[in-house]
Amino acid sequence: MRQHGSWQGDGIYFGADYNPEQWPEQVWAEDVALMRQAGVDLVSVGIFSWALLEPSPGRYEFGWLDRALDVLHAGGIHVDLATATASPPPWLAHRHPETLPRTADGTVLWPGGRQGYCPSSPIFRERSLALVETVADRYADHPAVVMWHVSNELGCHNVHCYCDVSAEAFRGWLRERYGDLDRLNDAWGTTFWSQRYHDWAEINPPRAALTFANPTQQLDFLRFSSDEQRAQLRAEREVLKRRVRQPVTTNFMIGMGIKHMDYHSWASDVDLVANDHYLTVTDPNAHLGLAFAADHTRGVAGGDPWLLMEHSTSAVNWQPRNVAKIPGQLRRNSLTHVARGADGVLFFQWRASRAGAEKFHSALVPHAGPETKVFDEVCRLGADLKALAEVRGSRVDAEVAILFDWEAWWGVELDSHPSVDVTYADRMRALYDALWRAGVTADVVHPSTDLSGYRLVLVPTLYLVRDADAEALRRYVAGGGTALVTYFSGIVDEHDHIRLGGYPGAFRELLGVRTEEFFPLLAGEQVTLDDGSTADVWTEWLHPAGAQVVASYQDGPLPGVPALTRHRVGDGTAWYLATRLDEAATDALVGRLLTEAGVRPPVAAPPGVEVVRRRADDRSWLFVVNHTDAEATLDATGTDLLTGQPCGGTLRVPAGEVAVVREEQAATQAVPAVEPSPAAAA
Ligand code: GAL
Repeated sequence: MRQHGSWQGDGIYFGADYNPEQWPEQVWAEDVALMRQAGVDLVSVGIFSWALLEPSPGRYEFGWLDRALDVLHAGGIHVDLATATASPPPWLAHRHPETLPRTADGTVLWPGGRQGYCPSSPIFRERSLALVETVADRYADHPAVVMWHVSNELGCHNVHCYCDVSAEAFRGWLRERYGDLDRLNDAWGTTFWSQRYHDWAEINPPRAALTFANPTQQLDFLRFSSDEQRAQLRAEREVLKRRVRQPVTTNFMIGMGIKHMDYHSWASDVDLVANDHYLTVTDPNAHLGLAFAADHTRGVAGGDPWLLMEHSTSAVNWQPRNVAKIPGQLRRNSLTHVARGADGVLFFQWRASRAGAEKFHSALVPHAGPETKVFDEVCRLGADLKALAEVRGSRVDAEVAILFDWEAWWGVELDSHPSVDVTYADRMRALYDALWRAGVTADVVHPSTDLSGYRLVLVPTLYLVRDADAEALRRYVAGGGTALVTYFSGIVDEHDHIRLGGYPGAFRELLGVRTEEFFPLLAGEQVTLDDGSTADVWTEWLHPAGAQVVASYQDGPLPGVPALTRHRVGDGTAWYLATRLDEAATDALVGRLLTEAGVRPPVAAPPGVEVVRRRADDRSWLFVVNHTDAEATLDATGTDLLTGQPCGGTLRVPAGEVAVVREEQAATQAVPAVEPSPAAAA
């Protein structure tokens, strides 16, 4: 179990990955002096240092790390110490080539990059745990160490390995899951295409095949692959827990970019949830993607504060065109994470490398040195975070939940489906972004989360859903909640078997509709609804079965057929959206749902101005991030912690700036802005 709130420092942590091994020791003193100047108080050390720490099997050399930790400690800088297992040294593959991962077509992935190991390799496991033991024994009591960092971004590059070792491990995992072959055959639907297995040895990972591989085999392989990465986390954690007293974490990659680790299931294996987030520079709404990732990280953390383990001060090096951050963007990005529950803001990395694949990645200290815009902004951020110390430990207000399940993501994007245009990110982000534009904060949570505290629950594309989770949503609505389910939800059970009797299977009764056939649209094809909105990608032949029709198609393949419905269930209302509405219509629908559910933003703000409230007991803080190029004016009373200025009713936030107001009177939990509309009571 995570130890709630036991990992934080005195304030909001500030720091970076620090790789002193890349620099002559004379540079370290300057590093510490600059860290102090910037207000850095936590650095992650040793992440990629296995090859230096263990130059040959069983021979360890810790001299440089001893000295680096001592220098940091003398400078008052805390250390998040890595187990150093993120990337094996060249000797491992040289001596044990069977530890190298293989792709689905059998290609061996050679060392030379990083994370080059088969996640199921017993040799890797043994050698990595020997290293963890040795590092933990040596530094368990080092006064600089406040936290342990298992591996690094587990599964980032090597999540799917198809080698013989992985195949054997996959069979073991399947035996564990199904017990006997008949159950596996049933679950995988192997009567189809002559796939029935009569011996466990016949089963393989979904290696490159002619035409579509069995979908449940694919789904189970995705589950297995996430579990194998998780097993490394658990194994390292276990070794650490026998030796160290500091909290243990690892950096997750929550966002819509990395799909293959089911972090909801990993959360109980860390003492604090830590996340890495990088902007997708081609996304004009990248700051909304950031907010989504932060809200989802908080959801994975069960609402507790979390640690931003990595983001970038400016450009990265791994996108096709690595756009630099404009002045002020670093601050807005960092403080948005804090607004949404981060109690620490760390970066990759402290000093920009001279050599290696990441030499063009930004850092806190750029190649040009500290006389730079980046280092100036870093120092400003350090001062900001110091001023926000009192916020540490507080929680974020949210009255809306968005349901998110990695298994639903994996399932919905399997091949041979009605339309390739139905992706998990699409409606997830469309609904999230509509909430963002409405100024409303959402928790992004697993469908098994207790929903009773939320006024509104949004359910985008929950293609795969378990019976218990579908039932929990029904209970939530019947108890007075408002929910919106979007198309291609509730379609299959956990084995990817269709729920028969009409779509959307698991949610048919809750929504009071029955769809007999999907009518996906061609690329570029649009339909018009009778309320004037347009939609694309998806339509379906839907019959109301208790639900009231809110809007129907006017044209397209299904004129007159309902596209949007609402259904009274017990004391609540369940909406179904059977098509992909344009942005304006999505905003209007979300606005209507917010009104009906009695949700309003913390304060009214101009478009493009993000407002989030954190609270603790009898205190509350209003974070205001102005993404526009005009001054924003809002209602607020209290003190802006970033400027020290009081605001007596009106807060002015200059273009591109951020304010954090300690509210004079802690805001009460938001109350319904309006009475539920008469329609809602109908
Ligand atoms: C992360 C990784 C870091 C560094 C960074 C660059 O994925 O954990 O080690 O590679 O990306 O953006």
